[in-house]
Amino acid sequence: MAEFLAKSSHKLLIDGNWTPAASRQTFSSENPSNGSTLGSLALAAKEDVDHAVSAARTALSGHWGDLTPSEREAYLRRLGNLIASNAEELAQLESMENGKPIWHTRAIDAPVAAQLAYSFAGWPSKIAGYTPSVSVPNKLVYTRLEPVGVVSIIIPWNYPLIHTMQKLSPALACGNTVIFKPAEQASLAVLRLGELTQEAGFPPGVVNILTGDGPTTGALLAEHPDVNKIAFTGSLSAGQSIMQAAAVNIKRVTLELGNKSANIIFPDADLEAAVPGAFGAAFGNSGQSCVAGARLFVHQSIYETIVKQLVDLAEAATIGPAMDPQTKLGPIVNEFQMESILHYIQSGIDQGAILRCGGRRLTAGNLAAGYFVAPTIFTGVEDNMAIACEEIFGPVLPIFSFETEAEVIARANDTKYGLAAGVWTRDVARAHRVAAALKSGVVWVNTYDMFDASAPFGGFKSSGFGRENGREVIDAYSEVKAVWVDTQ
Ligand code: NAI
Ligand code: MG
Repeated sequence: MAEFLAKSSHKLLIDGNWTPAASRQTFSSENPSNGSTLGSLALAAKEDVDHAVSAARTALSGHWGDLTPSEREAYLRRLGNLIASNAEELAQLESMENGKPIWHTRAIDAPVAAQLAYSFAGWPSKIAGYTPSVSVPNKLVYTRLEPVGVVSIIIPWNYPLIHTMQKLSPALACGNTVIFKPAEQASLAVLRLGELTQEAGFPPGVVNILTGDGPTTGALLAEHPDVNKIAFTGSLSAGQSIMQAAAVNIKRVTLELGNKSANIIFPDADLEAAVPGAFGAAFGNSGQSCVAGARLFVHQSIYETIVKQLVDLAEAATIGPAMDPQTKLGPIVNEFQMESILHYIQSGIDQGAILRCGGRRLTAGNLAAGYFVAPTIFTGVEDNMAIACEEIFGPVLPIFSFETEAEVIARANDTKYGLAAGVWTRDVARAHRVAAALKSGVVWVNTYDMFDASAPFGGFKSSGFGRENGREVIDAYSEVKAVWVDTQ
């Protein structure tokens, strides 16, 4: 780790070599816990993108393309082993760069990254076509799943280790080659993963990593005519730009965009589980999560009790620098995001919502140079206020009261998004009824924020399309070919 961070400038991984950007342009990476600079990164532009795309294209038809499924499995298992044996370093790199508390990256992000490699290592030898029962006489038809080709993967800063392995592993399992663009705010852990792909022996050009920003590097990948697919996680507006750019050559596109998750507590819920569950859903990773339970609906009969308990939890939360093992809630990723969150808080106050706790930047003691926002709870929020409708991506929770099941379902679904939702109830029939009625790609019942490589994850409506994980992700990284054979 010291060795990796000691590099004053980090390079691009293209065709198996670490190389500076052709333009020599760089940008810097910042530690949001204290504002210090962590290193300088290469800003990839047209020449670098063209170089990486051509390396990925060449690698498709080389040694990588000739591997047997079980050989591809072995590569992914080796990568999983390397992630597991370098987990502490990867956890520290992520925490330093995006401010996620170290307890979290140690307990979740780094181990899950390894698990994703292991899980998708199990796929290549099980990917199979089928023989459709056609009604044309004397014809045999079978299907083959083939790689889509050169895949560009663009991810945000909030879960760099998990997002990387959740996309890279299935892409490689299906035999594609990859050009990976991490977010400009959180590239270091991904660059270290790039070194591990080399150690695992992936042939040159199979995994390329381009650091850079959205308008330059990301946009160039989205519009490149020789990229076959874009897999993206990030904001709705960037997703829209990518879809438009992808039209140039009808790229395959999968998008995982924003959300404003409804989390519903019915009066028959186990409140000892629901209250900390709702707190974690809203404030985990300081609310910087696409599935954050950012609209909490509580039945009116228990409303004030629950609001009070959540305010108590918010006021007691240990907020601090990411690298402190005691820290439960870390900083916001950068000043820009912090200002955006503070602006939303002010808009809530201006529109007449009632601020119950938080509502401000924290600057005492060792928080002074970082970007910390106190966990913030609002009541008295109208459904059409900005804080009720827009993705804030920060520790801000509006709590609404409701009377009936039908009413809360309608209000929960009254959003352009549809990625995830939560339901807390002990009534089995209600749990299934409400889960079916919510227009959302994932519904958690009496739990929240659960993921697994075998369970599909993705959005309805403007939260995107295509699924990560599950059987579905294999289709997302494959083309299907139907072969017709005359048997007469
Ligand atoms: P963003 O969507 O701009 O950035 C995500 C990734 O996309 C980064 O790698 C960025 O470089 C790239 N990118 C940006 N514009 C692009 C373009 N036109 N073409 C290709 N690539 C592009 O997200 P940002 O600015 O970091 O955060 C803004 C808001 O987006 C957040 O406040 C939050 O509401 C939402 N967001 C949602 C995430 C999710 O998990 N669904 C993750 C991160 C942000
Ligand atoms: Mg942006």
